[in-house]
Amino acid sequence: MNEKRDGFGSKLGAIAAAAGSAVGLGNIYRFPCLAGENGGGAFLLIYVLIVLCLGIPIMMAEFYIGRRGGKNPVGSVKVLAPKTRWSLLGYVGILAAFTILAFYSTVSGWTLEYIYKALTNYFANKDIATIEAGFSEFHNNPFRPYLWQVTFMGLTAFIIFKGIKDGVEKYTKILMPALFVILIILCVKSLTLNGASEGLKFLFKPDFSKVDGTMILAALGQAFFSLSVGMGALITYGSYICKKDNLSTTSLSVVMTDTMVAILAGVIIFPAAFSFGIQPEAGPSLAFNTLPMIFNKMAGGYFFCIIFFILLAIAALTSTISLLEVIVTFLTEEHGLKRNTATWVGTLVSLFFGIFCTLSLRQDSVFVFGNLTFFDFMDKFSANILLPLGALCIVIFTAWKMGKASFYDEITNQNTLKVAVKGFIFFIIKYVAPFVIIAIFINQIFLS
Ligand code: PFF
Repeated sequence: MNEKRDGFGSKLGAIAAAAGSAVGLGNIYRFPCLAGENGGGAFLLIYVLIVLCLGIPIMMAEFYIGRRGGKNPVGSVKVLAPKTRWSLLGYVGILAAFTILAFYSTVSGWTLEYIYKALTNYFANKDIATIEAGFSEFHNNPFRPYLWQVTFMGLTAFIIFKGIKDGVEKYTKILMPALFVILIILCVKSLTLNGASEGLKFLFKPDFSKVDGTMILAALGQAFFSLSVGMGALITYGSYICKKDNLSTTSLSVVMTDTMVAILAGVIIFPAAFSFGIQPEAGPSLAFNTLPMIFNKMAGGYFFCIIFFILLAIAALTSTISLLEVIVTFLTEEHGLKRNTATWVGTLVSLFFGIFCTLSLRQDSVFVFGNLTFFDFMDKFSANILLPLGALCIVIFTAWKMGKASFYDEITNQNTLKVAVKGFIFFIIKYVAPFVIIAIFINQIFLS
């Protein structure tokens, strides 16, 4: 315990790791899916508003707790508010990490199956119906989805074993820029398809008749999920950020990167969906069926397809490592486990729940409650309940328990940095964010 604590080696490393956590399946797979189901442009607008107004301040609050407390979510809060119940806030985060990792590892596994399919040229000359049928067949296969899921968690654990600087930082710093380049290439391709403008209209033209409480909650949940806020991942990474780094510019860079990737993913998927006659409400099939179709039509598509799914897997990987890191840092610091043991425990427990998520997608599955599969339940429970609840606790703790002086001191690096809008940010953390989150919760309770 007295050994020197690991940490990020540079500001860029910290940004890459936090952006790696934020950019993931949530951007490329979940965002277009939700936007499609919630009317496109109106959802995007509300989403961007939430991200800008709430996302940046909440992210800063998380980094603040992490760097000031210097530990995992539970430990940091214990350091900042000793002998209080506030550490419960940290436990909400640990629960969220397990919940998200469970269904996230299912989808991450799919990315490996798709790399395999791309490598074997499976998509060549297949129409969309055949690709969709192949996707359902895969869910019902008794072996393959589990094999990929376990493999993916193995990769995640491999990086976590190596630590922060030599694992998390080293890998995210190489992989994130590569992801960006490929996304842009694909955007250009998608935009030049016939009928692309219809897709853009769908993504950017708001139809306000679709706006209701459920949709706003979905946008809020997605914003928190996509930014990785509300569960302590950024508290954990914050605890590894160097004392000299500027937390506000770090937060801004992470939020901008994340939002840009989500919009780029929409720009890839909707024009393609419209030009191939796929309904934008198609759900998961948007990313996993539509994209291979685009590649099918591209010159050099075989290679783009392989590279894209490799990069999708990598985006997922930089997120799963942040989720597992939350659990591992918690187990080592609060329960005295060695890093290796903690990695094993975290991996196996999340895999246990993850397998049930995967099983629940089988046609004959018993893990379905009403019309909600266990997979959907874990997704909705984390994004719509645990993350907003976690974020609520985080902002109340920061503003009402810790207070302005402590927050300013940390974000200005003990008054050595100028943060022009710190008063505004604190105002949002103290009054706006709690009010908005509670209002949306209440609205949801009365609506359902
Ligand atoms: N932000 C990730 C995504 O958009 O895919 C998901 C995620 C990762 C959520 C890590 C929460 C987290 F702690």
